[in-house]
Amino acid sequence: MTEQMLIVSKGAMVQKPNKAGLEEIAHLLWFGHLPTRAELASLQASLLEQRQLSRDLLALLRTLSPETAPMDALRTVVSAWGMYANVQGKPSIEQAIALTARFPLILATFNRLRQGLEVLEPRADLGYTANYLYLLTGQEPKAEHIKGLDAYLVMLADHSMNASTFTARIVASTASDLASAVVAAISALKGPLHGGAADKAQEMLAAIGTAENAEPWIRATLTSGGRLMGFGHRAYKTTDPRSEELREMARHADPIGFAFARHVEELAISTLAEIKPGRRLYTNVDFYSAVLLSSVGIPVDLFTPTFAVARIAGWTAHILEQAANNRLIRPLAEYIGPDQHAFIPLDQR
Ligand code: ACO
Repeated sequence: MTEQMLIVSKGAMVQKPNKAGLEEIAHLLWFGHLPTRAELASLQASLLEQRQLSRDLLALLRTLSPETAPMDALRTVVSAWGMYANVQGKPSIEQAIALTARFPLILATFNRLRQGLEVLEPRADLGYTANYLYLLTGQEPKAEHIKGLDAYLVMLADHSMNASTFTARIVASTASDLASAVVAAISALKGPLHGGAADKAQEMLAAIGTAENAEPWIRATLTSGGRLMGFGHRAYKTTDPRSEELREMARHADPIGFAFARHVEELAISTLAEIKPGRRLYTNVDFYSAVLLSSVGIPVDLFTPTFAVARIAGWTAHILEQAANNRLIRPLAEYIGPDQHAFIPLDQR
């Protein structure tokens, strides 16, 4: 692991929420240090300059059915961006900025179109996070919503070698282009065992419905072999530290939603310990994301895409790092099947 990779891996984790905004963290991930005021202004100007969707991309978005899953829409439009913008060759910081600037636009535009609403022009007077909220809702974003969403985006901007980041690095390691690596990362994040758990956690809370129903619902799900979304983690065998931060953010953002989620969380952890002894299953980042994102007005099916809006800075930082010092990632597989058989020609089998 290189020094830069350590920075990328730990960058988002060492920041407490509300101490630095998403653009500052993107600078940390891309350039290896927090920006000075001048560096931040320069990055913000670059992101602003790229805050636009071409006619081709808008036309493509208009062809998508309102039923399209938002992660599919994001994946498709990012792939088309790579094609129309002719994103080829070695990944560059300019490409990373161009794509990061477009992620919120793609999702907000899709969200407006599927509701039959007019597409809004991005506003130059709003920062990255505020602009996303404005484009989604068409309303002046509230200060506490901007703060809550920005803290969420910072928290999820990067997280070492998770499945989607690893996927991005594998694609980048073949000397493929940045858009292709990000399309692959989106595809990995979509899965419900990874980022796709965010909306599933919200669906779980909605299905439980009442405090009294929590215990029987959790027990029935676990005894029938189901999984509780927002719990368990491949790397953390204790509470995901991000979930502790998100728990506090959710407590302030939506006290009523929080109280119910906290009740479900406590029962989930104790019932998991009873039914899955020794597995050490605790709350992960997706559980309180559900409460927090709901409280700032993000629609449930945009939870995972909003996770992607947070993670695009981290993905592209990893892609740039991989490309800068590349070697093909190619694991060996241990064959455990039957020993070699004699070859029998087709007409004799
Ligand atoms: N609910 C119930 N049981 C669980 C859960 C869960 N959330 N997670 C793991 N288990 C159980 C499994 O059933 C298995 O039990 P068994 O030994 O009786 O068969 C045991 O714990 C180990 O499960 P694995 O899938 O091998 O554990 P792993 O560490 O590979 O899984 C994962 C990690 C995929 C995140 C898992 O905990 C899970 O499916 N969680 C629910 C989905 C989720 O919240 N994903 C988001 C993760 S965070 C992120 O990616 C941003």
